[in-house]
Amino acid sequence: MKHYLQFTDLSADEYAYLFQRADFIKDKFKAYEKHHPLIDRTLAMIFEKASTRTRVSFEAGMYQLGGSVVHLTTGDSQLGRAEPIEDSARVISRMVDLVMIRTFGQDKIERFAQYSRVPVINGLTNEFHPCQILADLFTFIEQRGNTADPLACLKGRVVAWVGDGNNMANTWLQAAELLGFTVHLSTPSGYEVDQAVAGLRSNESYKVFADPKQACKGADLVTTDVWTSMGFEAENEQRKQAFADWCVDAEMMAQAKPDALFMHCLPAHRGEEVEAEVIDGPQSVVWDEAENRMHVQKALMEYLVLGRQ
Ligand code: CP
Repeated sequence: MKHYLQFTDLSADEYAYLFQRADFIKDKFKAYEKHHPLIDRTLAMIFEKASTRTRVSFEAGMYQLGGSVVHLTTGDSQLGRAEPIEDSARVISRMVDLVMIRTFGQDKIERFAQYSRVPVINGLTNEFHPCQILADLFTFIEQRGNTADPLACLKGRVVAWVGDGNNMANTWLQAAELLGFTVHLSTPSGYEVDQAVAGLRSNESYKVFADPKQACKGADLVTTDVWTSMGFEAENEQRKQAFADWCVDAEMMAQAKPDALFMHCLPAHRGEEVEAEVIDGPQSVVWDEAENRMHVQKALMEYLVLGRQ
């Protein structure tokens, strides 16, 4: 049994399979063809933080695979009344075939997985957001028209990360180390990535830039996220000041390759981490990126429950 708690939980070979499988599953969806490998299977979704994309993509995706979904939040379950996470894991995993959790610390999802009888998927923690990077990489490969050889499409590429050294940045770095591309990291002082938290083997797959424009130079993809992630709202005003120069605008995009893409995991704040001219402009692929959450997660759920098809 495999869990998907961070990006490094799967191998490069497994990612090559998932990207090709997601492409196959997306084609079926677009052609209105049924694909029901998970009939009679159930996904439990546990949300301790708000969500739009993660909830809709997992819920719609599971129904489209022929299965069904149970939705739990801290407020409407015993999880919010201090039932131990180990007991919750033992009980929930006796009744369903898969569990997706969005929570705070990575330690919580690790503890749940330790006591779960079924695969557990990370739907976002403070440290990682692997399903989002899975979708982002698939979107890049798709945009470059290279789903037949997905890993070759990623090798040697440059991804510019502009903004917070958060769960998205950590996961991009894990992906770069595993799949052979480079991340140009630019974060304000005090918001750097912690290599130990990101779980990296070395610093060879990323370069740090004090100036975000320099980070964008020659990039194949420029990407960012909100200045204040969920759980850090108390720091909002302080972050607005610290991040003022880390807004992706046309000048930054002009430093990247002429065919560079722009991605944002959403929700976005136009005028803060990105200007409207970029996120609503021709290089932005954010709507495909959001839709692809569903297609890659369908491939992931099928793989975790049934293995390779
Ligand atoms: N990108 C993302 O995870 O979106 P939600 O917070 O809406 O799920």
